[in-house]
Amino acid sequence: MALTAVSTDAQIDPGSPGPEVTPLTLTAGAEITAIDLTNPLSEAEVAAVHQALLDHGVIFFRDQPVNPDQQAAFARNFGRVPEVPDSMFRVHPDNSFVSVLENDADRPPTVNTWHSDYSFAALPDFASILHAVIVPPAGGDTIWVDMVAAYEALPDRMKHLIDGLTATHDYMHLYERPFKAYLWEGVRFDNMEQGRLEHPPVSHPVVRTIPDTGKKALYINESFTRHIDGLGDAEGRAILRYLVDHIQTPEFQVRFHWTPDTVAFWDNRTTVHYAVADYHPRHRLMHRVTVLNDEVPV
Ligand SMILES: [Fe+2]
Repeated sequence: MALTAVSTDAQIDPGSPGPEVTPLTLTAGAEITAIDLTNPLSEAEVAAVHQALLDHGVIFFRDQPVNPDQQAAFARNFGRVPEVPDSMFRVHPDNSFVSVLENDADRPPTVNTWHSDYSFAALPDFASILHAVIVPPAGGDTIWVDMVAAYEALPDRMKHLIDGLTATHDYMHLYERPFKAYLWEGVRFDNMEQGRLEHPPVSHPVVRTIPDTGKKALYINESFTRHIDGLGDAEGRAILRYLVDHIQTPEFQVRFHWTPDTVAFWDNRTTVHYAVADYHPRHRLMHRVTVLNDEVPV
């Protein structure tokens, strides 16, 4: 009887401390506990999660067995969730808002290039939410970079040089590469081509100011940033190479080892990521939902 009373009180306790945030590094990444993503969140929980995302760039929730509907519902707390195309990733058969990222012996992993999801779009994804369904026993980690920390660590002369510049981001900069040729074979060709037509090259600021925080973040990546606008070819190429090398500094990174039913939630405005492709031919199955907030990069 006493145990039941304690349990009931715990569920409705208005003084509940809410989600707990444990940073994983001094820059990117934190684990969030004392929250259940399979149930609707309270306003206070949504606010706490959003603040943790702003503070840490990528946040992780272990032991969250969300189904695709629950994952999409969680995402809708933070913005508009778009339906996904059947192109670079398959669409979940039960939920058209969920992409299926699956690799095994016949489908080697190929997302081991630094990128920010959809930076090639005029309206890039604000955030992405990835649920680990099946993970390899070892390997298959993902690395995120804190692009605010990366910007702040630049020498002042480089900040002066790149502040105010824009760079061209291009869908084809990644998808024309030979190791992505498999995406253009067979039934997916039309959808990949549609993606190309819907996403002509677009310019975004090299240094992006985040309205929520007023902080500046580097906004270039290896996958989609084709060149820096308005500079000579050699100068632009050298500066972009310098910046891509700079963001790979370990001090700006968190490397995360997945366990089944972990959910990762990251801010594509302030982080780039890299899926370590070291586990072939083992099986890795992830579900991804993306979030838009209608914020054009400035
Ligand atoms: Fe990605």
